[in-house]
Amino acid sequence: MKSLPKVELHTHLEGAAPPAFIRGLAQEKGMDISGVFAPDGGYAFKDFWHFLKVYEAATSTLTTPEDYHRLTLAVLEESAAHGVIYTESFMSPDFCGGRDLSAWREYLHAIQEAAAQAEAQMGIILRAVVTCVRHFGPEKARETALCAAETAGDFITGFGMGGDEQSGKQGDFAWAFDCAREAGLRLTTHAGEWGGPQSIRDALDDLRVERIGHGVRAIEDDALVDHLAEREIVLEVCPGSNIALGLYPDWQDHPIERLRERGVKVTISTDDPPFFHTTMTREYDRLADAFGWNEDSFRDFNIVAAHAAFCDTETRARVLKKLEQTDD
Ligand code: ADE
Ligand code: ZN
Repeated sequence: MKSLPKVELHTHLEGAAPPAFIRGLAQEKGMDISGVFAPDGGYAFKDFWHFLKVYEAATSTLTTPEDYHRLTLAVLEESAAHGVIYTESFMSPDFCGGRDLSAWREYLHAIQEAAAQAEAQMGIILRAVVTCVRHFGPEKARETALCAAETAGDFITGFGMGGDEQSGKQGDFAWAFDCAREAGLRLTTHAGEWGGPQSIRDALDDLRVERIGHGVRAIEDDALVDHLAEREIVLEVCPGSNIALGLYPDWQDHPIERLRERGVKVTISTDDPPFFHTTMTREYDRLADAFGWNEDSFRDFNIVAAHAAFCDTETRARVLKKLEQTDD
């Protein structure tokens, strides 16, 4: 499955940072973040809320645009090695310059330079979804949305929200999402991961998003599953992340297959791959084992993902062509 071309819609840029990369940065800067690592060198956390703390501690080592340039290259190299041809990554002005617009522009410039280099060298295409962090609150989300609106374009194509789903309500962030929509950005938000089905309804009604990050807990509400299928809402499903964080005990218990059978548009992503000891290849291998999916099934998922990608039509056509090239 490693060489199969893949489209990935849901990763977090800092969450994809290899632990050795973060450890190296901490050493260079004399920062002590030893609590972040397990004895085997991977990231250590005990549950989702602890994961968010460890994520933010690891991210605190990324302090300059140059750090983000190196990070982006490292992340894209790893994705390309697993056959990813197009990837959308969540990026946060919160972590890149503390929501200051001119600082954010500098970080963005560095990230885009790295993306252009990776595309020229490895063919992988990166697009960015600016995310606000839910537990930082609606006020900070407004500032984040203003940064996103000012830099919307060919590279920044979407706006979304991650963080602690149990902090506040989706609707508290409506101003930020309205601002992003008015700037022409496409919208997604994390819902139905740690929040139940109502969090997905709130995301659709109050934030008017067209994709949902995770969304898997829709399976607990039959009417909602039908609604998602009818409205062709695309779910950015990250099965390995859900299993690593204890949302489901095992791959066979994961609802992705039941959602697909019921006609919901599902796609496959890694979320924060090194944190969850996963890669796109591993996701595909485990899903093939659990549900008997084969290369044709995965091609179908990738075509759904390409159509749901927040990129322009020319980019989408290039991606679809690459997916078709494997047909013979
Ligand atoms: N930030 C990084 N990974 C996340 C996840 N899986 N859910 C919510 N926020 C996140
Ligand atoms: Zn996520």
